[in-house]
Amino acid sequence: MRNKLLAAVAVAALAATSVLLAGAAFAQQPIVIKFSHVVSPDAPKGKAAVVFKELVEKYTNGKVKVEVYPNSSLYKDKEELEALQLGSVQILAPSISKFGPLGVKEYDVFDLPFLMSDDARARQMMASPMMAEFNKKLEAKGVSPLAYWDNGAHVYTANKPLIRPEDFRGMKMRIQGSRVLDAVARELGAIPQIIAFGELYQTLQTGVADGEDNVPSNIWTQKLYDVQKHLTVSYHGRLTYALVTNKKFWDGLPADLKAPLTRAVKESTEFFDETAAKDNEDALEKIKASGKVQVHVLTDEEKKAWVAKLMPVHKEMQSRFGKDFIDKIYKASGFTPPQS
Ligand code: LMR
Repeated sequence: MRNKLLAAVAVAALAATSVLLAGAAFAQQPIVIKFSHVVSPDAPKGKAAVVFKELVEKYTNGKVKVEVYPNSSLYKDKEELEALQLGSVQILAPSISKFGPLGVKEYDVFDLPFLMSDDARARQMMASPMMAEFNKKLEAKGVSPLAYWDNGAHVYTANKPLIRPEDFRGMKMRIQGSRVLDAVARELGAIPQIIAFGELYQTLQTGVADGEDNVPSNIWTQKLYDVQKHLTVSYHGRLTYALVTNKKFWDGLPADLKAPLTRAVKESTEFFDETAAKDNEDALEKIKASGKVQVHVLTDEEKKAWVAKLMPVHKEMQSRFGKDFIDKIYKASGFTPPQS
C-alpha cells in the first residue's frame, strides 16, 4: 500500500515537472514574423528587409524571429496581399500602386503622371499627417501601414526607343495594378497588361510585353537589361512601398515588444531612405556600362511633350477621386498643372 502511494506521488511529481518544463519551453518559443517580398535581396527593399530582421531580433532579444522570403519565393503580387489579410504572412512592403484589389483605390492617385519629381518632397509627403486618411482606409481592410518607403522615380524600358509620346502606340506595356497606370498607358496609345513582378523577366523575354516602367535598381537586379534594348530616363512616376502588417497580429503583440519593434521599423526605414537613391543611381550607371541597353534622357522639350500628352489623365481621374482630393494631392506634392 505504502509503495503504491509512493509510486503515485512520484508519477504526479513527474507529470507536474513535465508540465512546467513544457510551459517553460513554450514561453521561450519566439514569435515568428514572415516578411515576404517580390524583389531581389540586392534591391533596396530586399536589403532593408534583412536590416529589419536583424534589428527586430536584436531589440527583442530573440523573442521575435523574422523570416525573409525574397523574389516572390512565397507569394506573388496579388497573393501576398491576400496572404497578409489571412494572417499567413505578417509583413510585406508592396508598391502602393497595387492596393486597388484590396478595395482601396485612393493610393492610385500617387500614380498621376509627373506628380512628384522631387525625391525629398515625395518622401516628406509620404511621412506627412495627410497619410493618416490613407492609413485608415487600409486599416479597415485589416492591413496596418507601419511606414512608407519611397524608392524613387520610374524610367521606361522597351524593345524600341520611347522618345516621343507617339512611340508608345501599339506597344504592349506591363503595368502594376493601378487604374491610373492603366489610363496612362491607354492615353499613350499603348496596350496595358497587369503582370506580377515575379513574371516580368519572362514576360519581356517572350514578347508577351514589349516594355515596362520601373526604378533602375529593379531593372538591374532582375536583369531586365538582358531582355530590353532601350531605356528612357523619363521620371514620369514613382515607386513607393508601404511597409504593412496584419492589423490583428500587430495589435495582439505583447506590450513589451511594441517599443523594440517600432524602433526596428524606424531604423530600417532610415536605412531604406539612405540606400534607395544611391542604389538607383549606381544601377543606372551599371546598366549603361553593360552596353546592352541604349539609354536616352528626355530633354526638357521632350518632357514637356510627355506632360502635355498625359495631362488628360489628370482630368479624367477627377471623376474617380474628386477634384478637391486631387487638388489636395497637388498641394502636398508641389505639382503645378501646366497652363494650356
Ligand atoms: C513592380 O511591380 O514593378 C514593383 O512594384 C516591384 C517592387 O516591389 O519593387
